[in-house]
Parts: sequence; structure tokens; C-alpha cells
Amino acid sequence: MATVIALTNQKGGVGKTTTSSALAAGLASFYDKKVLAIDLDPQGSLGFSLGLNIEECRTVHDVLTGQVPIQEAIQLTDYCDVITSNILLSSAEIEFTSAGRELLLKKALAPVIDNYDYIIIDTPPALNILTVNAYAVANHLIIPMAPEILSLLGVTQLKETIDSVRESVNPNLNVLGIILTKFNRRTLLAREVKEMAENVASQMGTCVFNNQIRTSVSVAEAPAHGLSIFDHSPSAKPSEDYRNFLQEVINMTSKEKVQEVR
Ligand SMILES: Nc1ncnc2c1ncn2[C@@H]1O[C@H](COP(=O)(O)OP(=O)(O)OP(=O)(O)O)[C@@H](O)[C@H]1O
Ligand SMILES: [Mg+2]
Repeated sequence: MATVIALTNQKGGVGKTTTSSALAAGLASFYDKKVLAIDLDPQGSLGFSLGLNIEECRTVHDVLTGQVPIQEAIQLTDYCDVITSNILLSSAEIEFTSAGRELLLKKALAPVIDNYDYIIIDTPPALNILTVNAYAVANHLIIPMAPEILSLLGVTQLKETIDSVRESVNPNLNVLGIILTKFNRRTLLAREVKEMAENVASQMGTCVFNNQIRTSVSVAEAPAHGLSIFDHSPSAKPSEDYRNFLQEVINMTSKEKVQEVR
């Protein structure tokens, strides 16, 4: 059965999609894991970053509305399997109204969950029915945070949503940690932010990952080429940081010790 990890933060632009893409491509490339990446964001950026056309294919919207079986929406890329999303998913809040609407993704994934080692879910910058669907099926959440927009108010809302999902549909939902992105170690702000993130993490009963992801323009360039950061700029700082972060994630989510195989 796959380990399901959702990347979440209702703040926009904190690195959810970048981190989802790095996790999905990295787990497949460096650890030979069988990975399914699911884009639950109507912006459709994850599928795009992994090199897919998101307009002319079956998407997660078709799956959640029961129009196609999940197998038909899975696309193969050089890195991993992917279920894309597009703008049609933005009507989820008004479209998904029936009882059990929080469990649509969990139910849809049941036939394929045993085919994968990891399922990585990218979520929208919101706390809505799509996010709740991701939380309902996830074993672990990872919260990317960018230094310039840490806000305690946002974190309280995030914690409330996690708690309410734990109380209702997923009591075992674990927060694996906070990953600091767009990080510049040299600044005082970065050190202050790290301290704040550690406070936030302890309030949420979790930790801040030891590795931060440094800033580099290569991160913004890679998606335009449909390449993972590791293939686009293997020697850039974020590639090195994401590889170290991957090792942390693997250590925390595997029972046995796992090393990079490539
Ligand atoms: N380490 C980094 N260095 C430089 N730029 C970065 C880094 N990480 C992310 N970015 C850039 O920041 C922007 C936002 O990143 P990303 O799309 O991953 O965030 P997001 O949380 O998924 O955003 P949204 O909430 O809109 O879905 C992108 O332009 C991305 O290229
Ligand atoms: Mg995104």
C-alpha cells in the first residue's frame, strides 16, 4: 500500500508545487520508487511542470465526478505516473455536495493504491473541499513555508482544518514537517524565520526539516522545460537541498533504512 503525502499550505506561492514535483521525480529517480503524482490544484501547475499537456486529457476532475475510472486518467511521464488537473476543478466546492464528499479522492484511489510506493498530492492555496479530500487520504502532510510570508493566523486555520479532519475522516493524519523554501541562509530574517517556524512546528506537534531549500532562478526555469529540477540544473543549490530533503522524507516514512540507488 502506498504512502500518501500531501503538500499543503493555504498561502499561495510558498513552494507546494515545486516541492511536490521534486518529491515525485526524486523518489522515482533516486530511490526507484513507483510514484503517482496527483494535482488537486485547478491551476494545473504540477502536470505542466512534469511535462504534460493539461488541456486535452482526462483529469482528476473527471475521476472525482465519476466520469472515468482512475486508470484512464493516469498519464505516464519519464519520472512517474501523473493525474493532471485543470481549471474545471475550480467548481469542486459547488459541484461536490453529496454526503461523503470529503472521501471522493480516497474512494477513487482505492483500485490503484497498491500499485505505488508513494502517492504525492499537490493541493491548492486554499482550505477547501479539495484540500480536505487530500487530507482524508494522506498518511502525512508536508507544509512548505516561504520566509517572507509566515503568518501565525494562517497557521492557526491550517491546524484547525487538520484537527477537524483527524476528528472526522482520518484520525491517523500525521504532519511530517515544515519545509522552508526560498531560503537565504545569510540573512538575519532567515534565521528569525527558522525560529518562528520551529515554534509553529512545535505547536502543531511536528518539526522543521533539517534541510532548507535555497533560492535559485533555476527553480522557476525547470517547469518551462517540463524537466525536474534535478535534470534541469543538477548542480544548482535547490537540487542539492531537495536531494537532502528527500533523504529525510525517506528516512521518516520507511521502516527500513533506504539509500539513494542512483
Ligand atoms: N527555491 C526556490 N527558489 C526560487 N524560486 C522558487 C523556489 N521555490 C519556488 N520558487 C518559485 O516561487 C513560485 C511559487 O512556487 P510554487 O508554484 O511551487 O508555489 P505554490 O505554493 O505551489 O503556489 P500556489 O499556491 O500558487 O500553488 C514559482 O514561480 C517558483 O518557481
Ligand atoms: Mg502550486
